[in-house]
Amino acid sequence: SARLQTRIVGRELVCFEETDSTNLQALRLGEQGATEGTVLVAESQRGGKGRLGRHWLSPSGVNLYTSIILRPRIPPWDAPQLTFLSAVAVARAVQQVCALPARVKWPNDILINGRKVAGLLNELSAETDAVHFVVLGIGLNINMRADQIPASLRYPATSLAIEMDRPLSRVEVACAVYRQLDDLYHLYLNEGFDPIRLAWEACFDLVGEKVRVESGDRTLSGIVQGIDTDGALLVAAAGTVERVLAGDVVPVG
Ligand code: BTN
Repeated sequence: SARLQTRIVGRELVCFEETDSTNLQALRLGEQGATEGTVLVAESQRGGKGRLGRHWLSPSGVNLYTSIILRPRIPPWDAPQLTFLSAVAVARAVQQVCALPARVKWPNDILINGRKVAGLLNELSAETDAVHFVVLGIGLNINMRADQIPASLRYPATSLAIEMDRPLSRVEVACAVYRQLDDLYHLYLNEGFDPIRLAWEACFDLVGEKVRVESGDRTLSGIVQGIDTDGALLVAAAGTVERVLAGDVVPVG
């Protein structure tokens, strides 16, 4: 699009004053054949979706709630790669606009100074061996004030305004996210997952560090090696490399 100066992301733009969830709307539009690069954005969401069936608090007028429809020709087992792509895009946009040290937390949170500033929820429409489309869902806290963040959250949260001590232009931040996504998506289409993996690991503090992974019934201790092509965290422990698909990763010592 002309002012955005992107090639794919933002070819079509769908804006809502209020909606249930931009991800749900994107899934509906995707099924109806919406073009690749369609961006949905809402001022507020009544039913913002978080990971693991959680709710994503979506107050009006302060943050970015957006979903992007992509149609890469990939098998469904490669789809998790796009979560890492959107994580790098958001981290880079934050670094670019705010010069803040945005870092990634495996599998898909964006942190500033150890506090969550953005969450990602990608959803998939696919057959056994082909992806129809992917919805990249991004919730980025931009101008939320500290008193708007519920004390009941399971993790410490923040916003760009809290970290910068001043409000930001949401349009500027959103455009930076879309441009970074567009660049990284071209890189991904041309060169595959390798450069995305490297870029993600460059925003990740735990490569080479000792961690404890708690996933339901089992606890594992080892040294983080990086991520696999399916998004699994690789942890070297007791002479083998374990693939971790879910769990909480805690640095040790
Ligand atoms: C998480 O649990 O960390 C993921 C949160 C993802 C929230 C975004 S807001 C825009 C998009 N629409 C949704 O309903 N969810 C995602």
